[in-house]
Amino acid sequence: MRRPFAPVAAGENVTLPRRGMRVNTQPAADAEDVVKALRAEAGRVEERLDACLRAGNCPAGLLAAMRYSLFAGGKRIRPVLCVLSARVPAPPGPDLADAVLTFACALECIHTYSLIHDDLPAMDDDDFRRGRPSCHRQFDEASAILAGDALLTDAFALAAGCAGPALPAGRVLRAVAATAKAAGSAGMVGGQFLDMLYTGGTEPGLEQTAAARAGKNDAAPRLEKAATMQVEQSDAVPRTGQTAVARAGKNDAVPRLEKAASLRTGQSGTAPNLEELAAMQAMKTGAMLRLPCEVGAMLAGACPETAGALARYGAALGAAFQITDDILDVAGDAALLGKPVGSDSAARKCTYPSLLGLQKSREIAEQHAERAVTALDGLEGESAALLRGLAAYVVNRVF
Ligand code: IPE
Ligand code: IPE
Ligand code: MG
Ligand code: MG
Ligand code: MG
Repeated sequence: MRRPFAPVAAGENVTLPRRGMRVNTQPAADAEDVVKALRAEAGRVEERLDACLRAGNCPAGLLAAMRYSLFAGGKRIRPVLCVLSARVPAPPGPDLADAVLTFACALECIHTYSLIHDDLPAMDDDDFRRGRPSCHRQFDEASAILAGDALLTDAFALAAGCAGPALPAGRVLRAVAATAKAAGSAGMVGGQFLDMLYTGGTEPGLEQTAAARAGKNDAAPRLEKAATMQVEQSDAVPRTGQTAVARAGKNDAVPRLEKAASLRTGQSGTAPNLEELAAMQAMKTGAMLRLPCEVGAMLAGACPETAGALARYGAALGAAFQITDDILDVAGDAALLGKPVGSDSAARKCTYPSLLGLQKSREIAEQHAERAVTALDGLEGESAALLRGLAAYVVNRVF
């Protein structure tokens, strides 16, 4: 299997995004340039990760499990988003670029930990990840849990250590706080909790979809309206400068989502509606895709307008990313994905395809991607163009 961004031999076909993205005023990099740039940036991330994850006092067996999952060929989208976002305000000097790269690697460590734990038998119980046996299959459950714990914790040491002459400690502190918030109980971990709560339900979503397809009742307009509302919301939230997480904390959305879900079935294994599903995905995946864009802006000292645009971009990209992940679980190729397909329906997960079907899910993912592009309106330069191109890449990807 060709892993994402592995060096391509001359003449080898590269899998490229298929469809174009409507662009407003500024140009988006074309698909080939996006893939090339991703591969180049991902290579730098890998090199830095390799240098950062060295033995020290870490027991050899633990380090082996950490490195096994980390160097298995992930796309490195989160660190690449961070590095590109930091270049949007202005090209950073070499020392600042160096510090940003290390911070970006910390984000990849957190993401990899989330994948290791996501695959555990107590969670999604998936045996393959990044084209090889999941960490707990290659090692054992205890090693996988601890490798995840170590990657998460060490990531914060790596991130905090980025402060220096080129990168003021105040900026790093803000970025570390934002990272903890996005990764934690009100972000990724909270979203994963809701995902588990919603897993194993009675699939009324599938009935709704079937009914909507057959045109038998009013389910389709209702679902479509909810989907459109969600797209609107993804734009509205970042404009206020709040994260989804902050909003959740402020208006009590998370307890409400949890309560609504358990009320419906009175047990775990519940069936969320579209609004609940979108909110859960904004936490479990959106928070960790918006974060690198915010952190890149923060570390580079971007002005509030640029920082806000990048945050809006990241939030919309995150929504597009997870919907596409759900689509790929139905319609993707396991050999390309490097992880199983059909895992969501086997576990009776609530996803966009399970609620709305593939076609509608694709449309909504593309709407989110277009909003990501629109968010960057007015931002010039190569990095902004690459970020715009990346939005199309995210919805057209095959792994
Ligand atoms: C997979 O993330 C998990 C989700 C949040 C959907 P990626 O698709 O970025 O996985 P890697 O890092 O490339 O393996
Ligand atoms: C996981 O979502 C999101 C995380 C926070 C890790 P999924 O469970 O859909 O991710 P995959 O499909 O296993 O990569
Ligand atoms: Mg999961
Ligand atoms: Mg999973
Ligand atoms: Mg998935």
